[in-house]
Amino acid sequence: MNKKQKLELTWIGKENRPELEPRILLEDPEKSYHARHKVTKKDIFDNRLIFGDNLLALKALEQEFAGKVKCVYIDPPFNTGQAFEHYDDGLEHSLWLSLVRDRIQLLFRLLEPNGTIWVHLDDNEVHYLKVMMDEVIGRQNYITSISWRAADSSNNDAKQFSIDHNTILVYAKAPNWLSKPLPRKESDNKHYKNPDNDPRGPWFQGNLSSPNPRENLRYEIVSPRGKNIHPPANGWRWSKELMNKMIANGAIIFTKDGKRIIKKTYLADQGGLSPSSLWYNIDETGHNRQAKYELKKLFPGVNTADLFKTPKPEKLIKRIIEIATNPGDLVLDSFAGSGTTGAVAHKMGRRWIMVELGEHCHTHIIPRLKKVIDGEDPGGITKAVNWKGGGGFRYYRLAPSLLEKDKWDNWVINKSYNGAMLTEALCKLEGFTYAPGDSIYWQHGHSTEQDFIYVTTANLNHEQLQQLSDEVGSERTLVVLCTAFRARADRYPNLTVKKIPRAVLARCEWGHDDYSLRVENLPKAPLPKGQMGLFDDEMG
Ligand SMILES: C[S@@+](CC[C@H](N)C(=O)[O-])C[C@H]1O[C@@H](n2cnc3c(N)ncnc32)[C@H](O)[C@@H]1O
Repeated sequence: MNKKQKLELTWIGKENRPELEPRILLEDPEKSYHARHKVTKKDIFDNRLIFGDNLLALKALEQEFAGKVKCVYIDPPFNTGQAFEHYDDGLEHSLWLSLVRDRIQLLFRLLEPNGTIWVHLDDNEVHYLKVMMDEVIGRQNYITSISWRAADSSNNDAKQFSIDHNTILVYAKAPNWLSKPLPRKESDNKHYKNPDNDPRGPWFQGNLSSPNPRENLRYEIVSPRGKNIHPPANGWRWSKELMNKMIANGAIIFTKDGKRIIKKTYLADQGGLSPSSLWYNIDETGHNRQAKYELKKLFPGVNTADLFKTPKPEKLIKRIIEIATNPGDLVLDSFAGSGTTGAVAHKMGRRWIMVELGEHCHTHIIPRLKKVIDGEDPGGITKAVNWKGGGGFRYYRLAPSLLEKDKWDNWVINKSYNGAMLTEALCKLEGFTYAPGDSIYWQHGHSTEQDFIYVTTANLNHEQLQQLSDEVGSERTLVVLCTAFRARADRYPNLTVKKIPRAVLARCEWGHDDYSLRVENLPKAPLPKGQMGLFDDEMG
């Protein structure tokens, strides 16, 4: 029998999927930054900058932010093979696909039901990514590919083509997603005129003809002067009944000589513009050189060589945020680079989360955002959105792995974890919301109003467990995680007693800190039966 085949892209290591540890995030208040004064009532302070590998960071965000992000924009390393100073961009195709796939899967889970994900790439991988994203997200969720003019001038030394554009793939959480219309500009209204001083304002002659041949729409119209007006070849655009209504209400008028009709399409009736998939106008969506210039202007004292090499212009991100979000919505960029997405989201009154693993998180992003918050960034989109400063962000890093190996090669709780960290980490692992109560010592978190979790490093005996069970009562249940217990676990109907770390050992990969885009991280492909690896010992 024929096996049902599916259309898919295959690559080395595609089937390997990391079992990620849901880490907790630790705030470093020294690096967090907030404006001293409120600038407006709408200032946003709870933005997040996370320093670390984005795969672990996205996993860390999953519990709190699944279904809450309105717009994801990512600009991952393009895999061009060029050596960039700020990150390792020379990636093997398979590795690149695996690592981007794992991130996209997590990002998609974070999207709101009417959210979108925008992935910025160049010619190197975009076609592979399209096929892979169709598989991971669903082809029905694909919205479009935007061609963004990245270069303001062409490369005349190019032997084949001067590649002047990048592609931004847009996918929505739900296929029926609607874009927000863009505001009209003077130049969009050029063809609206008012030659007859119509009190309803400027208008232009709309199309009268049916797009397809329609015999039933081929009828004669008689002008007030008694002249017969013949239908266009395909017929009129509207039924005779509707046509008569439009003539009566002045939406359709006759020319002076009575030989033609005109459909007036009024500017006043037009809403915003549907966004185009071609972003060619560098005044509207910027270009790469402009992005570097923006950074140079922001940090005039820094050598050009020390500035971030591949920033995107603020205007580009502004366009995306305009189409995909409303003020107050949450925007996420897990390949933050120089922090353009956060800076633009901040200036546009959107909440944001950014993740960056490179040291430029500290040397580029934090100083940039401080300037934005202090109202000392006059460049980019500042004037266009009338940004005056305000708000702030919290800086986080990923906690180390909850478990580490001791000298006998056993997994034990990481020594750097204090009680609060341990409790929060275990709540996350068990799927409970961390919410330690002030009054009841055993309520460290909850999954429902009746179901609680208690974490302790104590060795609990029967009396202690019985006391807990009595306090919890018959209306509630409690998961007890302790390092040891001396009693029969099944003796207390309202308690589930488990030992740590044993209870969580099989839950995920422990002690794995580096999932970054590095060739060393390439998953090993299983060799076909009978085939030897290049470096395998001939003798086995
Ligand atoms: C092309 S840059 C993004 C530029 C950004 N759009 C801007 O406007 O500045 C890609 C960024 O992704 C970061 N990156 C690469 N792998 C990462 C990972 N595993 N976790 C977090 N960031 C990563 C790199 O350090 C680099 O800063």
